[in-house]
Amino acid sequence: MANKPLIVITGASSGFGAKTAQLFNQAGYPLLLLARRIEKIKELPLDFNNVLIEQVDVSNSQEFKQAIKKAEAIYGPTDLLVNNAGIMLLGNIVTQSEDEWQKMLQTNIIGVLNGMKIVLEDMTSRNSGTIINISSIAGFKAFTDHAAYGASKFGVHGLTETVRQEVANSNVRISLVSPGAAETELLTHVTNEKSLDDYLAWKDSMGGLTLDPEKVAETIKFIYDMPQEVTIREIAIAATKQQA
Ligand SMILES: NC(=O)c1ccc[n+]([C@@H]2O[C@H](COP(=O)([O-])OP(=O)(O)OC[C@H]3O[C@@H](n4cnc5c(N)ncnc54)[C@H](OP(=O)(O)O)[C@@H]3O)[C@@H](O)[C@H]2O)c1
Repeated sequence: MANKPLIVITGASSGFGAKTAQLFNQAGYPLLLLARRIEKIKELPLDFNNVLIEQVDVSNSQEFKQAIKKAEAIYGPTDLLVNNAGIMLLGNIVTQSEDEWQKMLQTNIIGVLNGMKIVLEDMTSRNSGTIINISSIAGFKAFTDHAAYGASKFGVHGLTETVRQEVANSNVRISLVSPGAAETELLTHVTNEKSLDDYLAWKDSMGGLTLDPEKVAETIKFIYDMPQEVTIREIAIAATKQQA
């Protein structure tokens, strides 16, 4: 068993999750890295000693739980779960397909609930542990073409604060990170061309330079590195030039 406790990161194949994996890997933590495209995780610049990679769709509670139990059997209990996996499919409510709504709600909300449920019982009985959920500035502010995505991220805000209150007495920390627009693969799944063009034009209006995912990873580590008795409840982080 490694000296440091186990950290589980969902959506580790790209963007914020991949950067967060690299930061904690450099700091010597054993990692369970989850995504559907595990070949992308295997290509990350990591020291793969003490890294377990499992193909998991976070909306599938059984495979999510199996992966965490497998990692815990090797590395001990999960000390930090970063619920980062998410998708953003932009579109107007009238024209966007219900299938896209379902995909976002299943991944962005059910996936987060699944992860919390798997680790919380053990964390509360140990009176220790941390969960950091990745929401969005679209989780507390409205943006055009974000109806279903906003619903999912407002949901993450609501469930995170609810659970934080429920487990506070057990000394378990529940935190939220709400990033603004950042340079990741998030936009690559948007199917509506007009919504995509509008989003890209909005990004251009910030000088084309949005948030570096590395800074989100550093924020996650900053929250975790606080002593267990201190919870940073929420951090919203965005490019300085993001006005909205
Ligand atoms: N980039 C932004 O502008 C921005 C702003 C605010 C909030 N966020 C949030 O930040 C989080 C990370 O996104 P990102 O920007 O880093 O985008 P990204 O580069 O597209 O990464 C998303 C990650 O989630 C994983 N994922 C998606 N659906 C999954 C599922 N059903 N099961 C397991 N893994 C799944 C993807 O892996 P696979 O496809 O390999 O499964 C990928 O690793 C998301 O929750 C997103 O909503 C992003």
